[in-house]
Formats: sequence, structure tokens, C-alpha cells
Amino acid sequence: MTWQYVPRVAVIRGLRTPFAKSGTHYAHLSALDLGKLVVAELVQRSGIDPSEVQELVYGNVIPSVKAPNIAREVILGTGLPRKIPGYTVGKACASANQAITSASDLIARGYADTVIAGGAESLSDVPILFSKNFADALVSASKQKSMSGKLGAFSKIRPKDLAPDAPAIAESTTGLTMGESAEKMAKENGITREAQDKFALQSHQRAAEATASGRFKDEVMTVVVPPGFDNVVETDNLIRADSTLEGLAKLRPVFDRKYGTITAGNASPLTDGASAVLLMSEEKAKALGIKPIGFIRSYAYAATDPFDQLLQGPVFALPTALERAKVKLEDIGVIEMHEAFAAQVLSNIQWIGSRKIAQEKLGRSEAIGEIDPETINRTGGSIALGHPFGATGARIVTTVCNELQRTGQQYGLVTVCAAGGIGVAMVLERE
Ligand SMILES: CC(C)(COP(=O)(O)OP(=O)(O)OC[C@H]1O[C@@H](n2cnc3c(N)ncnc32)[C@H](O)[C@@H]1OP(=O)(O)O)[C@@H](O)C(=O)NCCC(=O)NCCS
Repeated sequence: MTWQYVPRVAVIRGLRTPFAKSGTHYAHLSALDLGKLVVAELVQRSGIDPSEVQELVYGNVIPSVKAPNIAREVILGTGLPRKIPGYTVGKACASANQAITSASDLIARGYADTVIAGGAESLSDVPILFSKNFADALVSASKQKSMSGKLGAFSKIRPKDLAPDAPAIAESTTGLTMGESAEKMAKENGITREAQDKFALQSHQRAAEATASGRFKDEVMTVVVPPGFDNVVETDNLIRADSTLEGLAKLRPVFDRKYGTITAGNASPLTDGASAVLLMSEEKAKALGIKPIGFIRSYAYAATDPFDQLLQGPVFALPTALERAKVKLEDIGVIEMHEAFAAQVLSNIQWIGSRKIAQEKLGRSEAIGEIDPETINRTGGSIALGHPFGATGARIVTTVCNELQRTGQQYGLVTVCAAGGIGVAMVLERE
């Protein structure tokens, strides 16, 4: 085999909008609006000449029917050179990770040296569908020439056909929502309500502390919300600094009202927001005299059977990412695990530490390793900060890089679970 030089991929910097509960600050904005805001500011803050950017890869889970290739629209709407093609990726909650690793592959192959990646989501702006009967009648009416023909197309429409059909956060294979799947995991793994609430409280307390101490100042921009420009959003609005275990314990289970343990308090909330990172080859960064905040050392995607434990994907991706990075779990100093649900994070940690799971499901003789839930997500996670599906991956990559810089640790780990049983693990390094 001939030796081939592979450029190292540097994370120059990352940025996100403050995340907001859906229907609040960004209620009238689309994912595209949010994506444009963050990408424009990222380019401005990084000080690079926009003509250096060769590609933009963007994640989005619930695309707009009017602008399905959000990446291209972001380019056209931010004054980036129009010669950049731009492409959109969808991998459920791992979409921004996919955007980043796809961008990283372009750089590693030598096809580009400067790429923007990230993602956006607006759960305030989900497409509301008509029923099939009503949609068929609309199409049929549009083909009729006379007014009576047009009206006749609706003759078989009943009131129930007029009910809007909003997309559910459910698996099309199993029919279960994410929340129901997380309930199943909590039950099968014996994750108690108390353990979930304790983890959720930690998420809120740490996010509140990180915000108050200014830890997010390099990674969260200020949004002056268009079109009125009279609402200035500087921080995430889902963090509850005053959250208590007693308050969390009072909440009713949502997905299994009788026997369930998952509540609005220990689940990630429906959120609007956008994020982006600027990636370069190490040489390009050196040539421009820019110090990166981190490097992408390895990544791996995997998937598990959605009929088993849907949100355990990261457990299957992790051993491969560690092997590719040539590091052990115990070498990792900064760990960020996406918190879809407290029950999911605690289940992932349980399986990562289980020899039985390693032998039965991973083809390994020993467990991957131990993770103490108290040592992860030191600035809070998706439960407290929110989870705009398409944007979360780039938020986490940015936070890990900034934490590596702050703590002086060499290796960082990102894990994200996603619909379909998919999981991603990424190993980042400081220098
Ligand atoms: C769980 C879920 C249904 C809750 O939605 P919601 O009912 O609109 O949530 P709310 O923010 O209104 O919270 C419900 C209640 O819990 C309370 N609450 C939420 N978090 C709390 C906390 N940390 N402490 C105390 N109370 C809390 C709210 O104040 C509210 O109380 P109220 O009814 O008295 O006003 C929704 O967030 C959801 O679907 N999340 C999962 C999303 C998902 O599946 N993502 C995919 C993951 S990959």
C-alpha cells in the first residue's frame, strides 16, 4: 500500500444562536432564517475572507418544502460567494454531526481546505400537512377549468379531512415516539425516576452556572430578532436555574401516564436554534495564522435495531471511534453526550460499562469502559440548553473543543443518539 498524506482537520471556531423553547423568541423565524444568522456571524467573527470558503454542509431534520436544500439557501442569503454549491444532510439528531464529518472528509481528501458545517431547526415552523383526501381534492380542483368543476372536486370532503396533520416525532418502523422508546429503555435498564430527575437537575444547574460565568460567550451569539429587531436574545431561555429535585418529582409522566418515568423535566424540550463550525485543514489554518480550538481525530456511525433499544446507537459507534482514534475511553478528559432524555444518557452509560452487553451485542470480551454521569456534560446538555434537532451536533462539537482549551485536556468525546437507532461518536483533540 502506498503511503498517502491525509490533512488533519482543524475546528477553527464554532457558534450558535441562543436556543429557545419553540414558539417563543423565534416563533416567526424559519430554520433558514436561523441558519443565515449564525453562518453570517461565524464568518464575521472568524475574520476570514468569505471567498476562502469552498463548501457549506448543513443539517436539518424537518426541511421546508419551499427550501429543501437549506445549505444552498444559507449561502445565497448570507452574502457568501455564490459559487459555493452547498448541500444539506439529514441524519435525525445526528444531522449536524453528519454535516461536520462530511465537511471533514472533504478536507481530509484534499478536495477543500475551508468548509462551514452545522445545522438548524425550527420546531415553531414545522410543515403542517393536509389529509390525503383533502390534498387529492386540491390537486384535482387545480386541474378543473370551470368554477363548478373546481367546487365539485371538494364534494366528497368531510370535516375530518380538514384536520391538519402535523409530523410526529415517531419512528415509522416501530410507530413509537422517541419518548415511548426512552420509556422502554428506562424500564428494561431499571433507570429510576429519581436517577433521571437527578441527572436533569445537574444539566440545569451546570447550564445555569456556565451561562452566568460567561463560559458560553465565545460560542453563543446575540440574536436581534427580525423583522422587528426589538427583541434581543442573548441566552438560552430553557435553562431553569431554580430547578429543584422536589419540583422535578412533581411532574407527571408524559409518554406513559400510568407507569412511566419520563416527564417534561427529564426530557429534552422542543427547541428552535442554529449552529455552525468553521473547519480548515491544519495547513490552511497555519498559513492564515489562525489557532484552531481543536481537531477531529476520528468518528464513527453505527446503528442498532429500532425494535431493540432505539437510543443506544452511541454504544455501537463508540468502540469504532476509539479504535480509529487509537485512544482508550480512560484517556478522554472531556465527554459530552447528547441528552435526548436523562433515561437515554443513563442507559447509554449503563451499556458502555456492561461486560454482558459487550459480549452479547458488541462482539467484545470486555466492557467499553466506565463513565461517571457526574463527569460528563460539564456545562449542561440538551435537557437544559434545548435540542434543535439539526443544530445540536455542532453545539456539542464546539463545546467540547472550547472545554479542551479551557481545561488543557487532550482528548474529547462527543456522542449523539438519533432516530432510526443511529448513533455517532466523535473523538476530538486539543492539539
Ligand atoms: C416532554 C414534552 C412533551 C413536554 O412538552 P410540554 O408539555 O410542552 O413542556 P412544557 O415546557 O410546557 O413543560 C410542562 C410542564 O413541566 C414544567 N417543567 C418543565 N421542566 C421543568 C423543570 N425542570 N422543573 C420544574 N418544572 C418543569 C413546566 O413548567 C410545565 O409546567 P406547567 O404545565 O405548570 O406550565 C416535550 O418537551 C417533548 O416532546 N420532548 C421530547 C422531544 C423529543 O422527543 N425529542 C427527540 C429526542 S432525540
